[in-house]
Amino acid sequence: MAPSVAQLQQEAVADPIQAAKQAVKTEETKTEGPSYPYYFPYFDVDEKFPPLELFDHVDPGSRADPAKPHLLTPNVQTNQISPYLGTEISGVQISQLSKEGLDELALLVAERKVVVFRDQDFKDLGPEKQIEITKHFGPIHRHPTSGNVKGYPEFHVVYRDAAHDRFREYSGANRVSRLQWHSDVSYEKQPPGTTFFFILDQATPSSSHKLRLTTAFPRVQETPEGLRAVHSAVFQAEFSQKRGGPVRREPVETEHPLVRVHPVTGEKALYINQGFTRSIVGYKRKNPTFSQLLIRARYEPGTVVVWDNRVTAHSANADYPSTFRRHAVRLTPQAEVPKEAKFEAYDKNFAHAE
Ligand SMILES: [Fe+2]
Repeated sequence: MAPSVAQLQQEAVADPIQAAKQAVKTEETKTEGPSYPYYFPYFDVDEKFPPLELFDHVDPGSRADPAKPHLLTPNVQTNQISPYLGTEISGVQISQLSKEGLDELALLVAERKVVVFRDQDFKDLGPEKQIEITKHFGPIHRHPTSGNVKGYPEFHVVYRDAAHDRFREYSGANRVSRLQWHSDVSYEKQPPGTTFFFILDQATPSSSHKLRLTTAFPRVQETPEGLRAVHSAVFQAEFSQKRGGPVRREPVETEHPLVRVHPVTGEKALYINQGFTRSIVGYKRKNPTFSQLLIRARYEPGTVVVWDNRVTAHSANADYPSTFRRHAVRLTPQAEVPKEAKFEAYDKNFAHAE
């Protein structure tokens, strides 16, 4: 005879500790390793890179047709995530874009700051093709300390699972918030512009990456010209060294203009971030503050997020259990030496943020 509801309820609460243990065991057995083991982070403490050399950068967005006919074909659907930044796009494969289409992608990302491409085949293209496509936007940065892919130091691998809680390790266990706003490797003389990020494994139903706009900062029009900020790679290198990781290149400290100008759109952006900006030259150290203009880019299988590191800061958001695996890859083309923005008495670029 089938058990009654009352019997079932009694059995269900009979040994909650055993039930909890069983639940954990079931969770563990579901975890069979990364879906893309080829991209598992590779750390070689003996791997060394020479200092980066300066190069001429012409932004692909500056060559693009503003109408973007090669990118925004009739099959494409777009959705504006917020009025000022963020566009979701489907019906186009990045892998199928012509050179003109890639130029237009750079312009769209410069205009919208972050573009979320849905249902992409990008993660299955293989490393050679992934690098070939993203090289269109500039030489790919090779990270001095983070996990890369054996034989392909162009990949910056983000990896977290139950045994490897990088959020906790990097931010410290005592922090209330694990948000870590930054613009990628802003300490480099030529920091990145158009930046590609794609997920291989993610927390269900989805993981997230937040992006925050540093442009449209209300007080930026009052900022005197000539101010510069120090961006440092030292903390990142020391952190890697302490945990026995690689330091492939001597850590650099670079001064950049406090307010830079985008080479394609002419937009001015406050170029400081919590992760790497250490001080403003001539001023006492104080944590930079940010505007509240932000979006959340929600990942789904096949999503590729492309953002412009020159005019945004971003943070991963560990708002899911640490037992979940999060495996993602970034390809980070470098762009121009930041150029200081010039100000007029009243700047219409910032009128909307007042
Ligand atoms: Fe980042």
